[in-house]
Amino acid sequence: MKNLTALCLTVVFITFSYMMLSFSVKSDYQAIINVDNIEFPEEVQTILDNKCMTCHNTEAKNFKSKSKLNFDKFSNGDYSQGKAGKKLGKITKKLDENKMPPEKYLKKHPEKKLTKEESDLLKSWANNQKKILSGK
Ligand code: HEC
Repeated sequence: MKNLTALCLTVVFITFSYMMLSFSVKSDYQAIINVDNIEFPEEVQTILDNKCMTCHNTEAKNFKSKSKLNFDKFSNGDYSQGKAGKKLGKITKKLDENKMPPEKYLKKHPEKKLTKEESDLLKSWANNQKKILSGK
C-alpha cells in the first residue's frame, strides 16, 4: 500500500512538472514572437532620439521619411510582426550603405552623422531583434 501511494505521488509529481514545463515553454514562445517585445535598450534609444527621430516618428515634419519608417509603430501595434521584421532589415541595410541620416541633411547638420560605434550598435541591435521576432 505504501508503494502504491509513493507511485501515485510520483505520477502526480511528474505530470505536474511536465505541465509546468510545457506551460513555461509555451509562454516564452508567445513572448518571443510578439512585436511588443522589441526591446529598445537605453543606449539604442539615445542614438535613435539624437540622430533619427527628427524624421522617423509620428511628430516628424517629413511625410516621406515617417511613412517609410516610424519608430512609434513598433510599440503602438501598427507594425505587424512581418512588417516590423522588414523594417529592422531595412535599418541594417541603410546603415550598411551609410545612407542614414541622408547625406543632404548631414551637410547642414554634420553633428548628426553616426559614428562607426553607433552605426555598429544599431545594426547589431536591429539584427538581434529581427532574429528574436522570427523566432530564430
Ligand atoms: C533628415 C531626415 C532623416 C533622418 C535624420 C534620418 N532619416 Fe531615415 N529616411 C529619411 C527619408 C527621407 C527616407 C525615405 C527615402 C529613402 O528611403 O531614402 C528615409 C528612409 C529610411 C529607411 C528606409 C525604410 C524603408 O522601409 O524603406 C530606413 C531604414 C531609415 N530611414 C533609417 C534611419 C535611421 C536608422 C536613422 C538614424 C540613424 C535615420 N533614418 C535618420 C530621412 C531621414
